[in-house]
Amino acid sequence: MDYQKLMDSAKEVSKNAYIPYSKFAVGACVLTENGNIYTGCNFENASIGLTICAERNAIGSAIAEGERKIKAIAIYSPNSDNCFPCGACRQVIYEFQTSDGADVITEVNGELRVYKLNDLLPHGFNL
Ligand code: THU
Repeated sequence: MDYQKLMDSAKEVSKNAYIPYSKFAVGACVLTENGNIYTGCNFENASIGLTICAERNAIGSAIAEGERKIKAIAIYSPNSDNCFPCGACRQVIYEFQTSDGADVITEVNGELRVYKLNDLLPHGFNL
């Protein structure tokens, strides 16, 4: 799967972000080991702590379809170059990454950057 396609989908879905409070839009696109992709945007709430990040929204959609293994996730914000997943989302990606580890894709000045989730979250939590 072309990572540019994942980033394009993350960009597209970021347009649907519900962000009346932060005005900070994020889109995410997950690639599963079955070769399927799922998108999500952030959506906020007047009770601020209930905000759901784009990454967890996309992962939730994948899980709801029965997917369990994430190969890659692209993250995009029109408000920030090189938008990384927050710490909580890193742990959620960790839960579902394939044994090869998930790739985390960001964009800087229109160019893709690819990181390993395990480099962004060393010593992720397991039960
Ligand atoms: N946000 C995400 O959607 N993903 C991240 O990884 C970082 C933060 C959202 C949450 C909130 O709606 C806005 O960005 C500002 O924190």
